[in-house]
Amino acid sequence: MSAETAAQGLSGPVMCIVGARPNFMKMAPILRALAAHEPPLPALLVHTGQHYDASMSDQLFADLRLPRPDLNLEVGSGSHAVQTAEVMKRIEPAIDEHRPCCVLVVGDVNSTLACTLVAVKKGVPVVHVEAGLRSGDRRMPEEINRVLTDQVADRLYTTERSALANLQREGVDEERVCFAGNVMIDSLLSNRPYARVPAETLAAHGADPALVQAGYGVVTLHRPSNVDEPETLQRLLGVLREVSERLPLVFALHPRTRGNIERFGLQGLVAGGRIALLPPQGYLEMLGLMAGATVVLTDSGGLQEETTALGVPCLTLRDNTERPITVDEGTNTLVGRDVAAIREAVAGILAGGGKRGRVPENWDGRAAERIAADLYRWLRPGAA
Ligand code: UD1
Repeated sequence: MSAETAAQGLSGPVMCIVGARPNFMKMAPILRALAAHEPPLPALLVHTGQHYDASMSDQLFADLRLPRPDLNLEVGSGSHAVQTAEVMKRIEPAIDEHRPCCVLVVGDVNSTLACTLVAVKKGVPVVHVEAGLRSGDRRMPEEINRVLTDQVADRLYTTERSALANLQREGVDEERVCFAGNVMIDSLLSNRPYARVPAETLAAHGADPALVQAGYGVVTLHRPSNVDEPETLQRLLGVLREVSERLPLVFALHPRTRGNIERFGLQGLVAGGRIALLPPQGYLEMLGLMAGATVVLTDSGGLQEETTALGVPCLTLRDNTERPITVDEGTNTLVGRDVAAIREAVAGILAGGGKRGRVPENWDGRAAERIAADLYRWLRPGAA
């Protein structure tokens, strides 16, 4: 649908969709920018309920000062098919009722694709923030979500210049794309002053604060490819244990990872006092932990970007990244699941400090503002 049709046919709010943890820090600055725009762009916040634990959802809402969602679809967990289908079934009546002028989705989670599919078939324009990122690995569920969302989205906002080439290769017209920058970094910059002190974070969870007094690493792992198979998880925990003998580690455990460590009987590998096992952390705790770390070891997409913005070396335990700028300009290094490569990369960082990088273009804290301005012009082409 063209912007003109959108503006003529629909005058409702911008329906903003969040579902899972990495969506919340992207949506917070967007909501603020829509409200601060002159004139304000009315928004309606929908939480699909894909993530529902207090630690995966409520805590982040509080940390990021997100308003309570106007609607919670409470879909919860399930297979990809069940989860996607439930979001689709439950978002449809909400779109019918609220008649949004567009549906704004962020990132690449199942909720992103599910709401996109429903909106586009109802003739409601879809706006995708963080468009055009590609790992090239179609075994990743997120890659499928990205490709399909971008194919049918009407307005696409990118975080790095390489995304436009990816989109053009897939036949997306450049006219639909706007290089706005990284809203995740908007959140990081505005919350940096409120980051929690790492020693206090450990103490709050009954871990020894002394562990983070003289250098430490931060670990997060949750990708099915890393944590769902016993051999792979065992191998990765084994090398983390080795690393922890030289550098204490703070490991914030995703529910999937915690469950699998228990199911596969691997608790012994993370026991012994040099690895602090924490539940999923709030945004401000994680920010403090990352900012003070010697190195971050992760398979998260968001942490690759946040460490680049913070100038902290990041080792990504994946073979590819959809965020190549974090490697080319930032502090990120891809080490895969290769134990020797991980060991060597950590040793290099301990000896020489690791990559410091530079902050990429448009990761300046104003991406959401650019999105609001562009969205206003796009929805109301006649306006100044
Ligand atoms: C989802 C996203 C992933 C993102 C990640 C961040 C998709 C395809 N994946 O993966 O891109 O990086 O969120 O965390 O959308 N669980 C709980 N409590 C919760 C949520 C989940 O215990 O609040 C457990 C459940 O056992 C669930 C499992 O975690 O089955 C996986 O949750 P799910 O939302 O399906 O995917 P994530 O692995 O979190």
